[in-house]
Amino acid sequence: MQALTRAHPATGRRGALALTLWTVADAGSMGAYWARNRDRLTPTQPHRDEAFWTPAGQASRIDRALGDVAAGRMFPFLVRENGELVGEAILSDVSRGPFCSARLGYSVDGARLRLGIASWAVDSVVDIAFTPLALHRVAAATLLDNVASQAVLRSCGFEPIGVAAAYLAIAGGWRDHALWQRVNPTMTPPAA
Ligand SMILES: CC(C)(COP(=O)(O)OP(=O)(O)OC[C@H]1O[C@@H](n2cnc3c(N)ncnc32)[C@H](O)[C@@H]1OP(=O)(O)O)[C@@H](O)C(=O)NCCC(=O)NCCS
Repeated sequence: MQALTRAHPATGRRGALALTLWTVADAGSMGAYWARNRDRLTPTQPHRDEAFWTPAGQASRIDRALGDVAAGRMFPFLVRENGELVGEAILSDVSRGPFCSARLGYSVDGARLRLGIASWAVDSVVDIAFTPLALHRVAAATLLDNVASQAVLRSCGFEPIGVAAAYLAIAGGWRDHALWQRVNPTMTPPAA
């Protein structure tokens, strides 16, 4: 199977980018990432307990994910710039059979916004989803006012499906979401 990593050389705007799967050794840098981005990311997140924003909470998060990763239900990536953690991009709820689909979520460090990092990460994860993982569809959902995320999805070839009312519990309330998808045009349906 083609490696589940991607890399991009440095450009004038930013350093060298890479996608790597979570390891237990990442808990410290993940805790620091979530702590320094807490105020900005909280409005886009489901309920997070206090521990989530710490290295110990991230160690538990990685530990809880291991079973899903081993079963191929989840592919949680870190986005690195010159080796430093600058974002996350997570494929989850991987479903096979007639759906052959996964859900994508992502965030980028507040100090590294508008450098094309999310666009590169989303494109790269979709490439992984379509080629080595052989999925037919990647889905995403954004809050209706999340223009940054919608712009990323649009620039990465996602199409809007529509609006789902009260779709997810975010920041303490059931919030309407715009649903998006990108479909793999070369994928043949599984045999009946
Ligand atoms: C959404 C998010 C990941 C975008 O990260 P990013 O690395 O800044 O995105 P990119 O640099 O790849 O942006 C691509 C394009 O999106 C658009 N864009 C990005 N941020 C924008 C903003 N705040 N307002 C309007 N457009 C924006 C721009 O068109 C941008 O290209 P340009 O700056 O060259 O014109 C980041 O803002 C973030 O972490 N938000 C909080 C978490 C979140 O909302 N996650 C998604 C949940 S669905």
